[in-house]
Amino acid sequence: MHNTEVSTVSVQEDIRQLGEILRQCFNMPASYWPVYAERLGAENLRVVRRAGQIAGGLGIYRMGQWFGGKSLPMAGLAAVGVAPEHRGTGVAATLLAQTLEELHSEGVPVSGLYASTQNLYRKVGYEQAGHLCRFSVPASSLIPGEHGLSMEPVNPARHEVFHLLYTERARATNGNLDRNRAVWERLVLPKDTDDVRAYLLGPTDQPEGYLIYSQQTTGSILRVWDLTALTPAAMHRIWTFFADHRSLVDEVVWPGPVCEPFLTILPEQTYRIVHLERWMLRIVDVPGALSRRGYPVGVEAELHLEVRDDLLAANRGRFVLKVSEGQSKVIAGGRGEMQLSVRGLVPLYTGLQTPYQLQSTGHLDATPAALASAARLFSGPEPWMSDHF
Ligand SMILES: CC(C)(COP(=O)(O)OP(=O)(O)OC[C@H]1O[C@@H](n2cnc3c(N)ncnc32)[C@H](O)[C@@H]1OP(=O)(O)O)[C@@H](O)C(=O)NCCC(=O)NCCS
Repeated sequence: MHNTEVSTVSVQEDIRQLGEILRQCFNMPASYWPVYAERLGAENLRVVRRAGQIAGGLGIYRMGQWFGGKSLPMAGLAAVGVAPEHRGTGVAATLLAQTLEELHSEGVPVSGLYASTQNLYRKVGYEQAGHLCRFSVPASSLIPGEHGLSMEPVNPARHEVFHLLYTERARATNGNLDRNRAVWERLVLPKDTDDVRAYLLGPTDQPEGYLIYSQQTTGSILRVWDLTALTPAAMHRIWTFFADHRSLVDEVVWPGPVCEPFLTILPEQTYRIVHLERWMLRIVDVPGALSRRGYPVGVEAELHLEVRDDLLAANRGRFVLKVSEGQSKVIAGGRGEMQLSVRGLVPLYTGLQTPYQLQSTGHLDATPAALASAARLFSGPEPWMSDHF
């Protein structure tokens, strides 16, 4: 693509033109684009020009993501859009490839996104990585329990009061975001409702959890945007709070991991999954991503990888991941006992699939000893997040 160039935005007019294209792509209300662009920051917008004319672009959420108890920098790509008259000629592929090269040169280890079409993102090395799952339960099937733990209403715009609680939850997961301001603002000020409410659970000087939700009259739904319960008391209090809405609310809808722990205390299996989607990840810097995530406590293991990457040359070749006494390091070379593409590495890295499953689908080819080492290294909680971005 000789005449296709990717760049940052330099003038307000670029932002306006990009906004026009993205509004057309995503059916975004005119009033929302300035809010969206401000949250991301102009420095995180990219435009792709075809013969000098803006043909599309994207936004980058600069945040982190938790893996194995450590947060590593993650560039979340969003609003990838190309004007309809420029589609089908490789504009998006060039935009993504050049953005990934830029992220690699900055030392960003991983990039994540939600895909409307996987084919486009797979071409540049993204693969399925974890779940966004939403459940629904009829409010009438909830039984109120203890009311002992206090619940204090708080202004959701003061989201800072939730950050430490959220981080404690996220650290114990694989895949939860290390949210930046833009992601918090999306949560407490979503574009399609202004009726967001929030509560802190437990004493204000030592809270045990929080709840952020809206009560929607359409369909009588209590829609949870985010909840964190760090103690059994907080978990039970939140569900008593939901049960206390059963006179007018038909359904409670909430996000959680597929193996949602709350389901084990629900009186009957009255829940259903109303949304299940896999977000995608790109390992932008293989040695960086492997050495910066955490690994299970007590695991001593060595994994000899041979990685293929059509786009980013520095990721190609053999690497040895050594994890010992809680420290991890990656060195070049080794025996290449597990061969895989940079895409095949993704579900292994996040723990979405076991190495045995990935061998069965042809995503990797490894010796029995390498499979066993990888199984120990990448075991952990299922990868999920509750945010869409
Ligand atoms: C999706 C979109 C960005 C693709 O832009 P584009 O410039 O037409 O894409 P490209 O020409 O670079 O295509 C690159 C690859 O993706 C594939 N692809 C593009 N759009 C696709 C679609 N809708 N479904 C399946 N594959 C698609 C192409 O086939 C191509 O693969 P190929 O080389 O094997 O044929 C564009 O259609 C768009 O803006 N759509 C509306 C907004 C949107 O859905 N954005 C994605 C949000 S995650």
